[in-house]
Amino acid sequence: MTKLTNLPAWQQLQQHYEDTKDIHMREMFAQDSQRFEKFSLKLNDILFDYSKNRVTQETMDLLLQLAEQSDVAGLRERMFSGETINHTEHRAVMHAALRNKSEEPAYANGVRIDEEIKTELDRVKFLAEKIRSRHWLGHSNQPITDVVNIGIGGSNLGPLMVTEALHPYSIHDLEIHYVSNLDENHINNTLESLNPDTTLFIIASKSFTTQDTLVNAVTAKEWLMQKLHSESDLHKHLVAVTSNVKMAVEFGVKEENIFKMWDWVGGRYSLWSAIGLSIVIAIGAENFDALLEGAHEVDDHFRTAPLEQNIPVIMALIGIWYNNFYNAESIAVLPYDQNMHRFPAYLQQADMESNGKGCDREGASVDYSTGPILFGEIGIASQHAFYQLLHQGTKLVPADMLAPISNYHCIATHHRALMSNIFAQTEALMMGKTEDEVRAELTQQGMPEKELEDLLPYKIFPGNRPTNTFLFYTLDPKTLGSLIAMYEHKIFVQGAVWNLNSFDQWGVELGKVLARNILDEINTATPVTNHDCSTNGLINYYLSLKPIKDPN
Ligand code: F6P
Repeated sequence: MTKLTNLPAWQQLQQHYEDTKDIHMREMFAQDSQRFEKFSLKLNDILFDYSKNRVTQETMDLLLQLAEQSDVAGLRERMFSGETINHTEHRAVMHAALRNKSEEPAYANGVRIDEEIKTELDRVKFLAEKIRSRHWLGHSNQPITDVVNIGIGGSNLGPLMVTEALHPYSIHDLEIHYVSNLDENHINNTLESLNPDTTLFIIASKSFTTQDTLVNAVTAKEWLMQKLHSESDLHKHLVAVTSNVKMAVEFGVKEENIFKMWDWVGGRYSLWSAIGLSIVIAIGAENFDALLEGAHEVDDHFRTAPLEQNIPVIMALIGIWYNNFYNAESIAVLPYDQNMHRFPAYLQQADMESNGKGCDREGASVDYSTGPILFGEIGIASQHAFYQLLHQGTKLVPADMLAPISNYHCIATHHRALMSNIFAQTEALMMGKTEDEVRAELTQQGMPEKELEDLLPYKIFPGNRPTNTFLFYTLDPKTLGSLIAMYEHKIFVQGAVWNLNSFDQWGVELGKVLARNILDEINTATPVTNHDCSTNGLINYYLSLKPIKDPN
């Protein structure tokens, strides 16, 4: 395979960057009144406007050539057809099969999987319906009022994000809680107001070996046992989702209460599987089907639309333009929908655990920049927090803005003000405010000359700050499914161009191994000397004070 930086399109893009880097987007818009029509795409309810980017038609053509020369389409086909593209773990990558309701058979690594997917989804829906209809009873014959999902990473962020985002579609006499943190505050705070008689725990862990989840699961079991007295009642309060059925059974979960997932679903791509059990309990089977349908439509679009009309492809290429040619270090994801408040955190794992890598698919170190630092928050709140840096800081931070045109419970006064803000921000970031404009404005306000000249530099906005805008009719299950799948495939395309395996995560292992060793050392409570002097110092300081804080 030709090295990425040797590809003709890469080299042409480098030259093109030099030729165009000083052109302001103001000029681009002034020269082309059709820019919005030219650089926006629509898929069902979702409008994707990418016209406020530092791109010309030539930029887009070269980026599309880069996608072709790095054979994005080839890897895409290998993924959809179930080949082992996660080569370091010998796994296929088949999350798209989880949302494919067609009668077509699906295969992972040559093994048929669609029937198993359907069986497991039916089991999930059956359990969810039993809980929602109050037919699932706890040990004292009371219906379940609270469900606690214990899991971390992909076994937490996806379900949590979707449950929050689809709050208006959720059942309201049932509370869904999420516990992920090993810090006991998380489970303590959650259990504080719960009643073991009416609480059901979902232990969600693909591997069933994750320390954080298992420690929380043990605490949950002990909390239940204080009230239950007999282990034989545990199954009324404990279910699991895992690909490691043996470990779940050993932990004490009844086999019939275990929902299966498979090694061909990556943790961060797993909300569509039984890991989404808490989502189905919250929003019901029909809404979950709509979520799957929305994602499936994007899978079809991604697989079949020409590259130049392919939303995930365009999202990815624009990201590469800034990441690799402008050397932008980060991207911001800024939803203008309060219910999407966990969307940036969810995408942080999806993107950074997938493409935060420095070794290519052939095992060589890359000599180009890969996955960006992704951060974000609710747009409106961020305007009053970090947008200052976006507007006038020295760093280039390309941003994605997302907003619903209407809301489930729409209050026109709120919503119009909200929309005016998103439009204003993308315009301000792009246009900025020139020295002449500031001077004219302050003069008109009657500001004395000296004061005006002193203040002037602070009031200039350079502009030329790129944004993508996603507008969708309302954040319903189908639209949310589509948005998530767009980002999943964006990440895929970037990984394909950067020649990464986006589906392993070896980088999380070292810390886990060291933590296990250090836990043994802490348990023996004798001062340590085998680490670097900083780590020795910290552990020994902790051990010296531990008796005060931790009588155990
Ligand atoms: O440590 C990272 C990770 O392996 C993620 O990839 C995964 O989503 C998370 O931990 C949880 O893993 P599991 O579902 O196996 O408990």
